[in-house]
Amino acid sequence: MRSIILPALLFAVHVAAQAENTYTATATSDVEQARATAKTLSPTSNVKGKAFDRLAIIWLENTDYDMAIGDPNLAWLAKHGITLTNYNALTHPSQPNYIAAVGGDYFGMQNDDFTQVPHNVSTIIDLLEDKGVSWGHYQEDMPYSGFEGQAYVNQKNGKNDYVRKHNPAVSFNSNAGLIDRLACIKNLTVFHQDLEAETLPQWMFITPNMTSDGHDTDVTVAGTWTRTFLEPLLSDPRFMNNTLVLVTFDENETYGVQNRILGILLGDAVPPALVGTSDGSYYNHYSEIATAEANWGLHTLGRFDVGANVFKLVADKSGDAVRSWSGSVGLDHMYFNYSYAGPLNEKGGNKRYAGPNLAGASALHDRTVLPAIREAWEGNPAPVYYTSGLEIPDGQHPPSGYAPSG
Ligand SMILES: *[C@@H]1O[C@H](CO)[C@@H](O)[C@H](O)[C@H]1NC(C)=O
Ligand SMILES: *[C@@H]1O[C@H](CO)[C@@H](O)[C@H](O)[C@H]1NC(C)=O
Ligand SMILES: *[C@@H]1O[C@H](CO)[C@@H](O)[C@H](O)[C@H]1NC(C)=O
Ligand SMILES: *[C@@H]1O[C@H](CO)[C@@H](O)[C@H](O)[C@H]1NC(C)=O
Ligand SMILES: *[C@@H]1O[C@H](CO)[C@@H](O)[C@H](O)[C@H]1NC(C)=O
Ligand SMILES: *[C@@H]1O[C@H](CO)[C@@H](O)[C@H](O)[C@H]1NC(C)=O
Repeated sequence: MRSIILPALLFAVHVAAQAENTYTATATSDVEQARATAKTLSPTSNVKGKAFDRLAIIWLENTDYDMAIGDPNLAWLAKHGITLTNYNALTHPSQPNYIAAVGGDYFGMQNDDFTQVPHNVSTIIDLLEDKGVSWGHYQEDMPYSGFEGQAYVNQKNGKNDYVRKHNPAVSFNSNAGLIDRLACIKNLTVFHQDLEAETLPQWMFITPNMTSDGHDTDVTVAGTWTRTFLEPLLSDPRFMNNTLVLVTFDENETYGVQNRILGILLGDAVPPALVGTSDGSYYNHYSEIATAEANWGLHTLGRFDVGANVFKLVADKSGDAVRSWSGSVGLDHMYFNYSYAGPLNEKGGNKRYAGPNLAGASALHDRTVLPAIREAWEGNPAPVYYTSGLEIPDGQHPPSGYAPSG
């Protein structure tokens, strides 16, 4: 028996270890070939949430708060929902913010380069699947589901179009190593197909292309794109069915000032009394993970998701307390414009992945670390710098042992 099973097992391990490197080629012919056989999946589920049953997160690019709220189309969207006036990005440039929004840390990253986070680092996708909550990414102009290349330009005019740095799930090998997860990382064409077929997932992350999201253009283009995309969906029951939408930015444009960005919450999950109001609580990209955890009673990653504020409209129903920043360094002195240094930092620094905080439920809520994460990390001597506090580090105030080297 053993001689039969062993090679089969080795083969399975070999295949799994390769999936993250199988779909990286960007030459037109390679892309066309892969597209012809790429797997696309659109799993659905109906897990009741405490405040919403669907969460759609849309990220735009590089705009300072005042510019964003000054845009007439974003202001129109804000009028239909809640304006988050104290929502902060984590660092510069783009990619670490995206990585953090699903991974609960940016692991010291300060670059936009091709990145593969090791298999043993989990993301919100592990938490969602654990509770049967369906998920998907919709990346405008990604050439096929599960594409892993660094970028794919517009084939007619050569302009920047799809970029991996704005696709958070694919940079984690815990996702890219699994064909069935790659199959849920789709483009916006498939969003419209899923909408038609009523097969949208319960949690989704939407990234417009480099034109639409304002990166290569400006907030006027980003605002126009977002309203054009969202306005019809706001009254479409195939999308809007106890749905919460978050529109935000990865980072603000000016590096020398604090990294505050606009956040807008809208959708039919927003209680009517809150439409047109604003919320000045301190939030950051980790709030996106914490809010999903609180809503669906997910486990945690044991990283910065644990201490993050849950969006107040959800916290009011989940029993989470929305806290104010009370660190020894005041929020006024936190710029979040510079990364501490960790394994994803290219300028040096500590190369060791911090371990999740396995201490269990915090005083804040009763959510515990995902058992599979505990199993993977228990007993590992990696340093742990996550607490259940709201306060998080930045490059000027790094975790012990993770100071930037230059
Ligand atoms: C989007 O992905 C699908 C599925 O892989 C593919 O068939 C289609 O060509 C892609 N669309 C664009 C615009 O690249
Ligand atoms: C990005 O998408 C928009 C439509 O949303 C399209 O008009 C534009 O041409 C695309 N950008 C590129 C570079 O292909
Ligand atoms: C809305 O969600 C409920 C379950 O919460 C489901 O029964 C119903 O079919 C959904 N409506 C639409 C139009 O999808
Ligand atoms: C971050 O902002 C502070 C305060 O304006 C500034 O002194 C510092 O140079 C900025 N850091 C970077 C990397 O831009
Ligand atoms: C970037 O965010 C900070 C707040 O953290 C805000 O004061 C500033 O206005 C924004 N940038 C600019 C140039 O407006
Ligand atoms: C996770 O993987 C990284 C990179 O392979 C390794 O350095 C680290 O020790 C692993 N951690 C655990 C807990 O296995």
